[in-house]
Amino acid sequence: MNTIDACRLIQLEKHASGRRGSLTVVQGSEDIPFDIRRVYYIYDVPGGESRGSHAHKTLDQLLVAVAGSFHVRIDDGEGHRMLFLCQPNQALYLPAHIWHQLENFSSGAVALALTSAPYSEEDYIRDYDEFLKFRNNG
Ligand code: TYD
Repeated sequence: MNTIDACRLIQLEKHASGRRGSLTVVQGSEDIPFDIRRVYYIYDVPGGESRGSHAHKTLDQLLVAVAGSFHVRIDDGEGHRMLFLCQPNQALYLPAHIWHQLENFSSGAVALALTSAPYSEEDYIRDYDEFLKFRNNG
């Protein structure tokens, strides 16, 4: 069972090209510890709203603030931490078993998620008490 200590910030390389701007690459199994099977992104989040509020049974993810910023609250049932994502070349590795909530979205923020598997509602735990039971049952 992963704990919040398994969640870590990954610094991605930034290829700066002077006046032409910057480019960042994420290569599955090289820059991050899984193969990328799906990409989704969250945007147009009104101020004060939050996203997420769930955990996954098996899914690993990488979260990046490709525009703007937001906070990610991570919780393993025993402890929690708040992380701030605000750079397109910084990613949060968020493995399975961690309750997470994205909040405090800045105006124009875009949260990019790269995931280890296709979408499956069965992989979600959306109730916090169920999450605690899942953690306690191993
Ligand atoms: P939801 O899981 O509620 O978003 P949040 O990250 O805030 O918890 O997803 C919103 C809707 O999008 C929901 O109807 C499920 C759907 N969805 C997909 O169809 N495929 C996906 O890959 C994802 C992440 C969500």
